[in-house]
Amino acid sequence: MAIQKVGVVGCGLMGSGIAQVCAAAGFPTMVREVSADLMDKGLKGIEKQLSRLGEKGTISEAAKGEIRGRLKGTTSLDDLKGCDLIVEAIIEQLPAKRELFASLDIICPPSTIFASNTSSLTITEIATATKRPQRFVGLHFFNPVPVMKLVEVVRTIATDDAAYEEMVAFGRKLGKTPVRAKDSTGFIVNRLLVPYLLDAIRALEEGVGSIEDIDNSMKLGCGYPMGPLTLLDFVGLDTTYYISQIMFDEFKERRFAAPPLLKRMVLAGWNGRKSGRGFYDYADPQKPRPMKF
Ligand code: CAA
Repeated sequence: MAIQKVGVVGCGLMGSGIAQVCAAAGFPTMVREVSADLMDKGLKGIEKQLSRLGEKGTISEAAKGEIRGRLKGTTSLDDLKGCDLIVEAIIEQLPAKRELFASLDIICPPSTIFASNTSSLTITEIATATKRPQRFVGLHFFNPVPVMKLVEVVRTIATDDAAYEEMVAFGRKLGKTPVRAKDSTGFIVNRLLVPYLLDAIRALEEGVGSIEDIDNSMKLGCGYPMGPLTLLDFVGLDTTYYISQIMFDEFKERRFAAPPLLKRMVLAGWNGRKSGRGFYDYADPQKPRPMKF
């Protein structure tokens, strides 16, 4: 059964991006937030992205209108009952995700496929809140979702072949390159990315180089689009700290352990770009200035 209608739960940074790419790929998309205020904020964010694409000439006025027409917001979970696929992008907390999927399991027909955009939690542990673990996968997108070409399609030991292949095909329909990953904490990208980011902080702590020199080294020496400390500010230091704790808990390996500096920055509320301060100061967002430690 091919996916016709998509539901997205959560319209924050990731959810709004996912809803936008689903609607842009031609899927009627219903996105749900918990309050009218958050719903409004999320839809306005998508509108801003679409306007930017329009101004650059990437999409026509007509295409913008069609995307808007396919995208609907709601605060009621019941409105998702007609969806063939539901992608969850809510807060990264296991109890909240389990509770949400247990409710959706009652609302949606058994044929609906459930997917979580979690970056670090175990898909199996979320799926077991439902009676359909065979139709449960991970669909892990990357920030900014409309730009990044990858989606990790994660299967658990319980996911059946038909649902899994449907999700790989769905990833392609979104214009992404799907990669197949098993339900191992961090999947492929964070398994490799998180130790690299944490090592960049350790290099800074040990005085190997300055913030700018560490960033420039990886940008200019390796061709990465952002240096690791800029990327940490972009992803969010609180998010990275949280992911590293889950990965360390799973693997008990030093490479996943949060360096003391990261912990202290998160405690101080220096969560990166979104909080105005991280490894850089974003008082002028166009000209971030490296912090002094
Ligand atoms: N939302 C939507 N579009 C955006 C955007 C955003 N937040 N930021 C930039 N873009 C678009 C721009 O509009 C531009 O589009 P066009 O080519 O059509 O003009 C394009 O992206 C390039 O942007 P810029 O020229 O302004 O800047 P850039 O060349 O430096 O690219 C970037 C910006 C795409 C973010 C690039 O720096 C990059 O790829 N950085 C690395 C991002 C990354 O690694 N993301 C993964 C993080 S890990 C994660 O998400 C998962 C996890 O579990 C933690």
